Amino acid sequence: MDGQAGITPVVSGTAPGAAGAVPAPALWAAGLVRLRVNGEPRSGVAEPRTLLSDFLRHQLGLTGTHVGCEQGACGSCVVLVDGELTLSCLALAVQADGCAVETVEGIARGSRLHPLQRAFQERHGLQCGFCTPGMLVAAGALLATTPDPSEQQVREHLSGNICRCTGYTGIVEAVLEAARSLREEGEQGA
Ligand code: FES
Ligand code: FES
Repeated sequence: MDGQAGITPVVSGTAPGAAGAVPAPALWAAGLVRLRVNGEPRSGVAEPRTLLSDFLRHQLGLTGTHVGCEQGACGSCVVLVDGELTLSCLALAVQADGCAVETVEGIARGSRLHPLQRAFQERHGLQCGFCTPGMLVAAGALLATTPDPSEQQVREHLSGNICRCTGYTGIVEAVLEAARSLREEGEQGA
């Protein structure tokens, strides 16, 4: 990662009401974060404390990334940062400066559903849909490295993604179905 380019430290001189005697704590100004999101150059303003999830949702308008627990426990906020699955509620926006970020908005193939999305729809892999963006991103990362996963591999890989609705059976079936579709596509394209 490129670090914190554009983030300007600001140290205020005195604390308010301290009659100039007490040094105020150092403050950091908001700065510009530049990154690629789903292949497009994007930028927005972030404070050093701004979470990547909030930056994506509020600065870039990419509300497909959901925020559930905000403590790294539910997986609904997961995105790819330089190809690595990342809990965006535990990452800072400034840490993604200069990086390539993939969100759920980048999964569809233009106006067509990705095989994962289609399989989730057909296999009843979602009900309320809150967990679905994280499930899709995490499942996509699995299939990118493991095109023919076992059911156990799918379950283990998605063990960090909590679903309160489905009981997981439809989700696992959907990922296995998508894996089959993608392999067939690969064979046809070969
Ligand atoms: S919101 Fe990030 S893991 Fe739950
Ligand atoms: S579909 Fe509702 S939490 Fe998973």
